[in-house]
Amino acid sequence: MPIQTRVATLLDLPSLVALNHAAYPDLLEEGVVFEEDQLRAHQGVFPEGQRVAVEDGVVVGAIATLILPRAIDPLRAHTWMGVTDGGTFARHDPEGDTLYLADVYVGPQSWGKGVGKALYAELFDLCRRLRLARIVAGGRLYGYSELAETMTPHEYVARVVRGELKDRVLDSQLRAGFAIRGILPNYLHDWRSRHFATLLEWECLESRRPTRHEGASAGEPRPSARRPA
Ligand SMILES: CC(C)(COP(=O)(O)OP(=O)(O)OC[C@H]1O[C@@H](n2cnc3c(N)ncnc32)[C@H](O)[C@@H]1OP(=O)(O)O)[C@@H](O)C(=O)NCCC(=O)NCCS
Repeated sequence: MPIQTRVATLLDLPSLVALNHAAYPDLLEEGVVFEEDQLRAHQGVFPEGQRVAVEDGVVVGAIATLILPRAIDPLRAHTWMGVTDGGTFARHDPEGDTLYLADVYVGPQSWGKGVGKALYAELFDLCRRLRLARIVAGGRLYGYSELAETMTPHEYVARVVRGELKDRVLDSQLRAGFAIRGILPNYLHDWRSRHFATLLEWECLESRRPTRHEGASAGEPRPSARRPA
């Protein structure tokens, strides 16, 4: 049966907690996995940004997003705890123009079956629908700790990009269409990545305001990023 996607509901909360904890067995002790009150808060501040993937009626993966206020430069160095306000999404701002992917996770028993791909497609659709300019995310370097004694994180990322190394997380993000804008140290307390993450961006070309060179008419208003009421 094909993978379907939809908005998360309060009824999904127990499954989402279980899936999130199963997807991050290494992070349970670090306190950076989602608990039910956080997931409930996400649905409260930005319901449309919380989406699940369903296979045979069972929730197998999810994305959690927020919109960042315009005052924040999303391409500057940041940490997961900082940008998500400790996982609460307290700074979600419907007037912003950057969709921040705070989490994408799939239950381990469903890895490698296209669930992540379906969730990234859902994420890009959300960005287009809300007419936001871009998506930004920090991507943990899932396999880096195994090679950290022999190369820098920059070298590791370059080798994954060149196809010389495989990384479960970065490969899925590159495959989806994200561009790497830098490396973030201390992004998340995560031994697997030695706390490094890629700074990822996906630009929504449909929302981009044409430059004068491209023939934009002067004064053309940018579509509002506000969610339809
Ligand atoms: C990262 C994650 C969401 C990917 O989800 P997934 O459902 O396994 O991914 P998909 O099956 O859709 O695969 C998408 C692409 O990822 C890559 N990929 C999948 N499995 C891979 C593996 N074992 N090794 C390397 N690349 C792999 C492939 O490029 C694949 O594209 P393809 O279908 O053309 O081969 C999932 O592994 C996960 O939840 N991991 C734990 C949580 C996590 O670390 N999330 C990321 C936070 S930054």
